[in-house]
Formats: sequence, structure tokens, C-alpha cells
Amino acid sequence: MSSIKKGIPFIDQHDENGMWGKYGGNFIGETLKKPVEDLTKAFEKLRNDKGFLDELEYYRKNYIGRPTPFLELPALTKHWGGAKIVVKHEAQAYSGSHKINNAIVHAMIAVATNKKEICGDTGAGYAGSALAIAASLFGLKAKIFMGAHDMKRQKIQVFRMRSLGAEVIPCHQGSKTLVEAVSSCIRYYTANCDRVHMCVGSCVSSTIWVKICAWAQSIIGKEMEEQMIDMFGKIPEKLSIVCAIGGGSSSYGTYSSFIDKDHVKLIGVEAGGPEGKKNGADSLSRGTIGILHGSKSLLLQDRNGMVSNTTSISAGLDYPSNSPLHSHLKDLGRLSVMSVSDEEVLESFKLVSRLTGLQPSLEPCHSFAATAKLAPRLSKDSVIATNCCGNALKDMDILAERLKLD
Ligand SMILES: Cc1ncc(COP(=O)(O)O)c(C=O)c1O
Repeated sequence: MSSIKKGIPFIDQHDENGMWGKYGGNFIGETLKKPVEDLTKAFEKLRNDKGFLDELEYYRKNYIGRPTPFLELPALTKHWGGAKIVVKHEAQAYSGSHKINNAIVHAMIAVATNKKEICGDTGAGYAGSALAIAASLFGLKAKIFMGAHDMKRQKIQVFRMRSLGAEVIPCHQGSKTLVEAVSSCIRYYTANCDRVHMCVGSCVSSTIWVKICAWAQSIIGKEMEEQMIDMFGKIPEKLSIVCAIGGGSSSYGTYSSFIDKDHVKLIGVEAGGPEGKKNGADSLSRGTIGILHGSKSLLLQDRNGMVSNTTSISAGLDYPSNSPLHSHLKDLGRLSVMSVSDEEVLESFKLVSRLTGLQPSLEPCHSFAATAKLAPRLSKDSVIATNCCGNALKDMDILAERLKLD
């Protein structure tokens, strides 16, 4: 495949091996072949099933609280003095981030496929909290894998998951972050796939998990397209969509309705990590093709193919790879990529909090930090849309320490 087809969801533009260009696929053990085939069949049926879609619509509206708001941020527009800044305020989704969009879909799939238990991974804790919430709602047992380092830095999310009845399992290997959580979760699922459903919290892993997550998150872009038309009368001619990329779920969701609109610029922002260190999680910028968690993507790895340890102030972006969808979009020249440092992220938290009252978590602070660089260079008839995809309550300990607020 060399170009993007119009009118067909980008998630469906893979080949018969589940590859988007050079990326994606099913690099999995024999044990998982049949469960993956079964899940693929179940999902393809459910995504066209009126009963399933009506129920999902009900939960989106009444439980998650969709549509989430879309608004102008005039104080930021004025401060940066260039493009008009608008934001999809996804942190207003119940649970405080976009991760609930995916968790509810997975819990519904678990119920539809007669599974009583669901397992998942989490980094910043939002995917885990959202899954714990969805499991409570649908009467499922939840087991959530989280890096031991992330459990310390996102403590409040651990309390939250446990208070919802979920079992949180610390992962002590390697960097003790999201990459280990996903590995441990896949290992657990592989051993228990006859009775357990797996929710991968982002658009990573083998093709079917990439597709389910991206499909679930596409609601963000669908709403944003309608909200933009309400706000501007049409999709603005000079529009850039700027989003933070970890595993790629909030960004894919936000881009989804605009990928085949050539005039819309898609910009991804990666975690550059501490200033000057070059050990951030910017895999689209610095990675090379490799296999992680069952699929091919741009991956931070050494010369021998060993996965690199990454560092970021943001647990949610601290992942050495990204989605095959994003790697492919970058190859196609459809996605441009920037990275920002931890220090720039802290500055953007301060600025956005003071000028707008929004308190983006450290993940979306990356996109605000990139927007700070882009906006002044653009004309006043340009628009930058970003996604405030998480709220900063989970980050208050880190922010208090780094910004000396206590
Ligand atoms: C609020 C928030 N934003 C962004 C991310 C990054 O993940 P993704 O790229 O899948 O949206 C996370 C991950 O935990 C998150 O919690």
C-alpha cells in the first residue's frame, strides 16, 4: 500500500497479514493464533452489530459523558499571537482521560465473548483506572499490570484501581514502566486466554488490539469534526492537529476523521525526556523498525535489537515504541513529528493552568508545549486543535516537587 485511501477507515487499510505498510502484524506465539483469530472474528461482527453499537452509544452518552467539550482558548491564542487555539477537552470524559473509550469497548467485548475476567496494562494509571471502572460496571474481575516505578509515581491511580476492586500487579523487571506492564499482561493473557479477555490500553500489540483501540478512540475525531463545523461553519482551511503520542490512542482518535483530508496537518508530539539527555521516548523520531509486543513499529533499540530504556516525566508517554498506525503515517509523510523536553512540559503546565484554568496532565502538556512553538509562527487565520486528553490530578505530587509548590 503506498497511499491513503479516502472513505475507508485508516485502521482497515492493512494487508492480509495485518500490516500497515511495513508495520503491524501478528508476531505472536502459536498458542495465541486461535484466540487472536476468534477475537478478530468477534470484533468484526460486533463493530457492525446494531445492538452492540446502540449499547455502546448509551454508555458513551450516559456513563462517559460524551460528547466531550470542544472550545476555544482565547488567552492562549492571544499569548502566542498566531494561530487560534482550540481544544478537545477529553479530560472531561468520566475517569479523567480518553482511556475510558477503549476500556468500555473491551469490557463489552469481554461480555459478548463470555469472558468473566479482563486483564490490562497501565502506565500513567488512566488506562488501568478506566479498565477497573469498566470491569465494575460490567461485573468482570480485573487484573491490571503496572510497572513498579509507575506505581510509585502515579500512586493515586493505584489506590483508585484497588478501591474499584481491581487487582494491581507490580512489574519489577527492566525499567519498571509501561513496556514491562504490557509484556507481563501479554504473558498472563497467553497463559489464560481461554477464560480471560485482554484490553491493551493503547494502539499497540498485534493487529486486532491496535484496531479495537483505534476504533474505540475514533469517537474523539468524529465528535471533533462535527464540533469544528459547528464552531467554524466548515473544517478550517489552515488546520493543524497537534497531539501527544505514547502508544498512540488519543492521537489516533483525534486524527481519525481528518487522515484523508489532505489539507489538514497532523502533528505528533513525543516525550523528549530530560533536556540534553537523548534518552527520551521519541521512537518515531529516533527509532528503527523492530518488533515489540507482537507487532512491528519504529522502536528504540540498540544495535543488537535490545529494547532501550527510556525516560520521561510522563508515565503515559514513557514507552520505547508507538503504534504501527503512526509509524506508517509517518512513512507516508502524513504525520510530522516533534519532541519536547520534560522542562518544556513543566513550563507548559504552568502557562496553561494560569491562562486557561485547564490542568492538563503531563501527557497533553507535551502537545501544549509543542503548540507553544508552532502557534507564533502561524498566521492568525490558522487554527491549531489539540487534545487535552487527561487531567493533572494524578500528577500533583510530581508537579509539586518539580515546580516547588509544596
Ligand atoms: C492522559 C494520557 N494521555 C496520553 C497517554 C498516552 O497514551 P496514548 O498515546 O495511547 O494516548 C496516556 C497514557 O497513559 C495518558 O494517560
